[in-house]
Amino acid sequence: MNKFKLVMLSGAWCAFALGMVHSQAVELEVTHWWTSGGEAAAVKVFADAFNDGGDVWADGAIAGGGSIARPVIISRILGGEPMGATQLNQGRQAEELIEEGLMLDLTELAEKEGWRDFVRPAKLLDSCTLDGKIYCVPINIHSFQWMWVSLAAYNKAGLEPPADWYEFVASSQALRGAGIVPLAVGGQAWQLSGMFGTLFAGLSGVDNWRKVYIDRDEDALRGGITANVWRAFGDARDLQAKNNTVQNWNDATTQVINGKAGAQIMGDWAQAEFALAGLTAGKEYDCLPGLGIAPVLDASGDAFYFPKVDDPEIVQAQLRMASMMMSAEIQVAFNLVKGSLPIRGDVDMDEANECMNKGLAVLENENNVLPSGDQTFSPDTQGQLEDLIIEFWSDPDMDPADAQAIFADIILDAD
Ligand code: BGC
Repeated sequence: MNKFKLVMLSGAWCAFALGMVHSQAVELEVTHWWTSGGEAAAVKVFADAFNDGGDVWADGAIAGGGSIARPVIISRILGGEPMGATQLNQGRQAEELIEEGLMLDLTELAEKEGWRDFVRPAKLLDSCTLDGKIYCVPINIHSFQWMWVSLAAYNKAGLEPPADWYEFVASSQALRGAGIVPLAVGGQAWQLSGMFGTLFAGLSGVDNWRKVYIDRDEDALRGGITANVWRAFGDARDLQAKNNTVQNWNDATTQVINGKAGAQIMGDWAQAEFALAGLTAGKEYDCLPGLGIAPVLDASGDAFYFPKVDDPEIVQAQLRMASMMMSAEIQVAFNLVKGSLPIRGDVDMDEANECMNKGLAVLENENNVLPSGDQTFSPDTQGQLEDLIIEFWSDPDMDPADAQAIFADIILDAD
């Protein structure tokens, strides 16, 4: 645990907001995987607010994305070397840590501040809750189910930008003819499985999606709608750059920003990169929630957890950080930079851009909100699905129908 104490540093944002004037500053190490330009700008909002409150944010960014960072974070906590606070995704990622009694119980703070009254959708707080107690602060609503389109690329190819996935596929030959890679793709497994999930949600529609991912219905798993999704994933495989070597999601986003690629399927955190590059939604790039077909979003996102430590001063600082992240002012400031939506239903989002407004409109109808993989399957099942997706992606000869059969078997067997 990284910690040092200074004498008397209070009076700024946090202390006023909480009515918790504290006499000693505490340094908390905060781990997260926000390392792209846009993500780093968003972290700074939290860090500045925490520091302004008189404590010290010791940044513990872990490079390589969530699938690299999460095991590091979890094994540090299990191994008795906890950080002061950490990002994880909303869902079941911290379940074992909570069950082992390793995470700070935030219930008292949550009740005092009335989190249940303003957090929306309610499932965000539910996924922080175990046996009636709250163990995390959901801090944003992110959804993977978006396609980001470069208007410069379409302009260069002399084409109208696509209104949906099928128009995009139809335009791909012409894009290639203009020297543009149709689909920007980062090769990491989580990106491929997110793209597959997005195709699933967008192309199959909510009913089939629920039958497959929630009811685990065999007819739907082996049926024609699911077959169509696997064929579309095969199309996506063909639309990436020949010998694609891009790994990081934000490097793929940069190809869309530069007009070198036509589009990318990626979560709405991509918006932070467009914003940082000075691009405006609707002017230089376009965004299609649910791939322009089914208006669905998974309304998942990030949450902060606070490992339990036996030091009341650290615990007080952890509670100050939790409260700051949940506050209305920081919710708005952070999410505008991060490209996500605030988890509070009672804040003003006047400054939301066109894509955020599209997202908010989708979320207005709760039938459009899907649970994410993290909330549906155990890490083990997710791992098996991810392995299948990588196998399919890296073998251009693997038939979509064969992949579908294995997919159905995994889900029918899932815990
Ligand atoms: C997180 C986002 C983050 C993205 C890419 C997701 O798991 O929820 O906040 O921007 O990973 O790093």
